[in-house]
Amino acid sequence: MTNYKIGILAGDGIGPEVVDAACLVLNAIGEKFNFSVSYQHSYIGHSAIEKTGNPLPDEALEMCNKVDAILLGAVGMPMYDNNPSAKVRPEQGLLKLRKELGLFANIRPITIFDELLFTSSLKPEILKGADILFYRELTGGIYFGTPRERQNSGTVAIDTMKYEKYEVERITKMAFEAAMRRNKKLTSVDKANVLESSRLWRETVNEVSKDYPEVELSHLFIDNAAMQLILNPRQFDVIVTGNMFGDILTDEASQIAGSLGLLPSASVGSKVGLFEPVHGSAPDIAGENIANPSAAIMSVALMLETSFNNKLASDSIKNAIAKVFKLGFRTADLVEAETDKNHILGTKEFTQKIIEQL
Ligand code: IPM
Ligand code: MG
Repeated sequence: MTNYKIGILAGDGIGPEVVDAACLVLNAIGEKFNFSVSYQHSYIGHSAIEKTGNPLPDEALEMCNKVDAILLGAVGMPMYDNNPSAKVRPEQGLLKLRKELGLFANIRPITIFDELLFTSSLKPEILKGADILFYRELTGGIYFGTPRERQNSGTVAIDTMKYEKYEVERITKMAFEAAMRRNKKLTSVDKANVLESSRLWRETVNEVSKDYPEVELSHLFIDNAAMQLILNPRQFDVIVTGNMFGDILTDEASQIAGSLGLLPSASVGSKVGLFEPVHGSAPDIAGENIANPSAAIMSVALMLETSFNNKLASDSIKNAIAKVFKLGFRTADLVEAETDKNHILGTKEFTQKIIEQL
């Protein structure tokens, strides 16, 4: 029987709860599809800072280099957000992990469960049928460019938005390949009317497009893309964009799916893949058994498909979640006026329902 070694970085806030839920589902699907799973645990984010002073201790990185795939919960704590002078921050752990593991492509699928059309703040008739796949560049751009520093006794701050051609090429190729497997439409998002790095981005995307004549390519400026996304989400198939634009657009796009609690993500590059819910650590609801585990569970589905080439097992998880929604069960973030109060489940109970449906 195949055994998969999974590295767990549960992180902060609701991270541990949603990761526990995802592992239960992974164990259960393993029994059904005849593979076993073993887990190794390490620390990242605020919990790692508390233990070691370092948001990504060396032992965490060592673990990540030895496993077949990584499942991450969430990182972040408000105490750092409100303290601009904090030198060590939870997010640094995540950024370092992405960089060290060469995870240059962040894949974020946005799909809607029909049962949840009414939980979004957007009109159901606008959302129905939307299905978007984001390719967000993850190890370059303004997140990593240098210099990033203070000057003039701290009164001037500099970040650098930098892209090299090869960085744009490799993510663009992946996005075109994905478009070829889907509806053959790719939208590249940049700010080429203002930014030089965006002009390189656009130029490079156009060059790569020559190898994919079947794919209909279009370019949008980020401001227009943000507007188009909620104006008419169905116009999109695959979207490729840089690090910060992708960060912002995918949070916006979570409302197309109904809740940030529903979006999984895969970060891939040359070696091991990392799978994590798009949502943050939500410390205000941590430990209360009310977090929505769907994004973490769908991240496991994405892991099975992406890292272990097991589409059947992956689909089985997605179908089980859909069935649980169809039966009317909800977590607290997805409640609408019509929801039967007895159908609002805690994190653990909702997870059990999914396992029952596998
Ligand atoms: C995300 C998060 C991270 C990012 C933070 C936690 C550093 O918002 O994965 O989207 O900005 O990339
Ligand atoms: Mg984000």
